Amino acid sequence: MKAIRKAVFPVAGLGTRFLPATKANPKEMLPIVDKPLIQFAAEEAVAAGIDVLVFIIGRNKNSIPDHFDKAFELETKLEEAEKQEMLDIVRNILPPHVDCIYIRQAEALGLGHAVLCAQPVVGDEPFAVLLADDLIDAGERTCLNQMVDVHNHHHCSVLGIERVPHETVNRYGIIDSTVMSERVSKVKAIVEKPPVDKAPSNLAVVGRYILTPRIFKLLEQTERGAGNEIQLTDAIAKLLKEETVIGYEFEGKRFDCGGKLGYLHATVEFGLKHPELKKDFEDYLRTLVKAMH
Ligand code: UTP
Repeated sequence: MKAIRKAVFPVAGLGTRFLPATKANPKEMLPIVDKPLIQFAAEEAVAAGIDVLVFIIGRNKNSIPDHFDKAFELETKLEEAEKQEMLDIVRNILPPHVDCIYIRQAEALGLGHAVLCAQPVVGDEPFAVLLADDLIDAGERTCLNQMVDVHNHHHCSVLGIERVPHETVNRYGIIDSTVMSERVSKVKAIVEKPPVDKAPSNLAVVGRYILTPRIFKLLEQTERGAGNEIQLTDAIAKLLKEETVIGYEFEGKRFDCGGKLGYLHATVEFGLKHPELKKDFEDYLRTLVKAMH
């Protein structure tokens, strides 16, 4: 089996839960303190050894390519002002060996359709999919790093899994599985957003996937499902009938930044860790909490 070299970032969703902020900007460009969500995801992929980043972009198509592109005017101004620290930040968004490729999803037909758009670039090799609105803080060994290790050991598709409160299972793809080893289970079934009383477990698929290229053929055959969208979950349900698919309970903390509350949690926790801000921000929060009691 080939090594994982390519990662797909679907960023063409409508982001309706974040309107009006997402009216003219993809939600993946929302910053956590000072870094956009998409940059966290790109850094996670690069740390896992990936060197081709494939972005599936939608109607607000320019801001993500602009973010990863060279910014001549800004760099010249910072150079003239001798602001080396800022210049380094702007120049080192990605290491030089990493290639970015942009593919347009003309219509937001669903996550499955977005992944299918990557087929011409990914070709016949296993690849990763990262949904940048799931921000995963896992320290040195990132979530995708852990999943690549699992893939290299088992040579099959791997889904990032998290145990979620039972009453929230209707917001996720949920798996039925048998345990293979610690954190690793074999997926027997997968269902998108099941009603709380019908869910096979509380093991939810989060926004990290390693998929074999077989998924493309199956996506081509997938009709519109839940929400009238082409669902990646439906194609994975077909994949696991043909190949082994593993669910991996990653180590780390996930923030659901596709919703406002998860986004605020991430902002507070990353603010409390930010080298420039942590002291003042913690003092501020303490004063605020005291004033509330
Ligand atoms: P979501 O369902 O979380 O995103 O899609 P959304 O539709 O943008 O958000 P809401 O629910 O309206 O607030 C999961 C991921 O798939 C991408 C999104 O950008 C997000 O990263 N996506 C979704 C696409 O790229 N294309 C689509 O057609 C749908």
